Amino acid sequence: MPSRLQFQVRILTVLLIVLAGFAAGTPTRAFHQQGVGNCNGCHIMHASEDGQIIWVTDGPLLLAPTASDVCLICHGGADGVMGPNPLGPPPERGAGNFTFQLEDNVNDAPDGLTNPVGGHASGHSVIAPTFGLGRDPDRLYSPGGNFPSDRLECTSCHDPHGNRNFRMLHGAGPIQGGQFTFFYPAPEAVGIDCCSPSSREAVDNHTAYRSGMSQWCANCHGNYLDENGHVDFQHPTDGFLESGEINQYNRYAGASSPGGGTAASAYIPQVAFEDPAMTVGSTAGPLSTSRIMCLTCHRAHGSSAREGGRWDFYVNDISQDGLVSGSYPLPSPYSGGNQSQLCRKCHNQNHGRGQACVACHAN
Ligand code: HEC
Ligand code: HEC
Ligand code: HEC
Ligand code: HEC
Ligand code: HEC
Ligand code: HEC
Ligand code: HEC
Repeated sequence: MPSRLQFQVRILTVLLIVLAGFAAGTPTRAFHQQGVGNCNGCHIMHASEDGQIIWVTDGPLLLAPTASDVCLICHGGADGVMGPNPLGPPPERGAGNFTFQLEDNVNDAPDGLTNPVGGHASGHSVIAPTFGLGRDPDRLYSPGGNFPSDRLECTSCHDPHGNRNFRMLHGAGPIQGGQFTFFYPAPEAVGIDCCSPSSREAVDNHTAYRSGMSQWCANCHGNYLDENGHVDFQHPTDGFLESGEINQYNRYAGASSPGGGTAASAYIPQVAFEDPAMTVGSTAGPLSTSRIMCLTCHRAHGSSAREGGRWDFYVNDISQDGLVSGSYPLPSPYSGGNQSQLCRKCHNQNHGRGQACVACHAN
């Protein structure tokens, strides 16, 4: 175990290497695809033998206490996937952010003050003690599956050694040094620029989800592929949209214009769908080839709402998000007040007004 000082020196060294790269204009891009030579970006190397990683009984020595701590040396910070301030998160680029794990309350339901729900419920709780992140206190395993929460790292989902998949996600096969095995392949999708400060999600600049996301999530949440397996909220989690939902998606342009939208400009990244022809710049609504999937409603890393919702499932008026809990208000895709749940992007039902849809449609 390196001492705290050694550790800080190493972090500084890595930062200097990265900064030097930026300053010299050398391509820091494609860091993960460089193969040999970049091992020291994450591993502790023998000082004498060139290119040799130091091994201990558990495996190769890393620059930081856990795999996730290592990733966050470069991907933490005000522009990364783990910002320092949950009230001022880094720009959204698709996956959401781990900074919301630091929130003391993300419950914006009417009972939010009397029944606070901690930031661990804002999405995936990865183990990165250097950044104040630890195991989810409520869930021992992935719901609908059996992936242990105390092994959940960035490298549970991403291949640290790089691959050709979307966002270097693991495909079928062994992960984390062979401790677990994925059954389903990586999803087909195209992301926006992952990491440059100017990159941010917008209606015409968003992840283009194409296929396979629900199956991929099912590597750890198998039962949720079945609509009855999504226990509290029984709803299709995979499959084609039908004409009713397609037309509604295209028509709906917010509470003040519930029927005024057009297909060409209907897309909102807050209610994403998969389509084999989807592009990052597409603003069009769904077609009969489009599918619902897990990331229609959830963010892969997390959000300032419970269960990493792309919008807060528990508030009646999403233009008032964050008000009850004091957490970061997820921006509403539509201007004006009195914005109902984004379920309405696909469902015309506006009954039960005054309560969030899940008040009646989830257990
Ligand atoms: C030394 C700095 C550094 C470390 C440590 C680091 N990364 Fe990266 N990462 C980068 C840079 C720079 C990019 C920009 C694109 C590239 O180089 O591929 C990047 C890009 C990425 C991307 C987006 C790739 C894409 O296809 O858009 C993912 C996902 C990612 N890193 C995950 C990780 C994970 C997981 C870890 C820990 C195992 C990690 N990174 C550790 C520097 C780092
Ligand atoms: C972006 C960070 C990163 C880089 C760069 C990196 N590794 Fe790793 N490596 C890890 C992590 C984290 C683990 C621990 C296993 C895990 O969590 O998947 C690991 C594990 C390993 C293992 C154990 C077997 C395995 O696959 O889990 C070997 C061997 C290894 N790395 C070799 C290398 C070599 C050689 C290089 C340079 C060509 C390299 N690594 C570059 C992060 C990295
Ligand atoms: C490598 C395994 C793994 C993969 C892949 C995975 N998850 Fe999870 N997920 C977990 C574990 C473990 C938990 C329980 C611990 C926690 O909540 O952080 C969890 C919890 C969750 C939660 C509840 C979070 C909360 O705080 O209440 C949601 C929602 C979720 N996952 C959605 C997804 C979606 C959507 C995908 C695909 C993009 C996905 N998961 C992929 C392992 C995984
Ligand atoms: C449960 C699986 C899972 C875990 C754990 C996870 N990621 Fe991701 N990550 C994803 C998925 C899926 C995407 C693509 C999301 C999208 O575009 O909707 C992604 C996207 C990214 C991106 C691209 C930029 C962005 O914001 O979309 C980076 C960088 C990244 N992850 C780094 C990390 C790091 C670093 C960690 C650990 C601190 C981590 N991821 C943990 C699944 C995961
Ligand atoms: C139509 C929107 C929607 C889709 C699609 C969807 N979810 Fe959910 N999910 C929700 C809502 C709403 C909740 C909160 C319901 C509740 O617990 O009251 C939730 C809760 C969860 C939870 C927490 C479960 C718990 O017991 O509290 C997990 C895990 C999860 N979803 C995973 C997934 C996965 C994996 C997929 C894809 C296979 C998926 N979801 C698809 C809306 C959705
Ligand atoms: C991307 C579009 C989409 C979104 C967003 C969406 N749904 Fe659905 N919903 C569907 C589809 C597709 C079906 C299946 C329709 C069918 O089988 O006729 C469905 C079915 C339902 C049903 C059952 C209706 C029936 O006819 O049996 C209910 C209730 C429902 N959704 C509620 C919700 C709630 C609540 C939310 C928000 C948390 C939500 N939906 C978000 C697409 C969506
Ligand atoms: C006060 C409770 C309540 C609230 C809040 C509520 N619903 Fe419902 N919803 C119901 C009941 C009861 C039914 C009828 C169930 C049945 O017939 O099986 C229903 C039926 C539905 C159906 C199926 C209609 C059909 O024709 O089969 C959909 C879709 C739906 N609701 C969507 C929503 C959406 C979207 C919201 C939020 C904007 C919402 N509901 C809010 C109670 C509620």
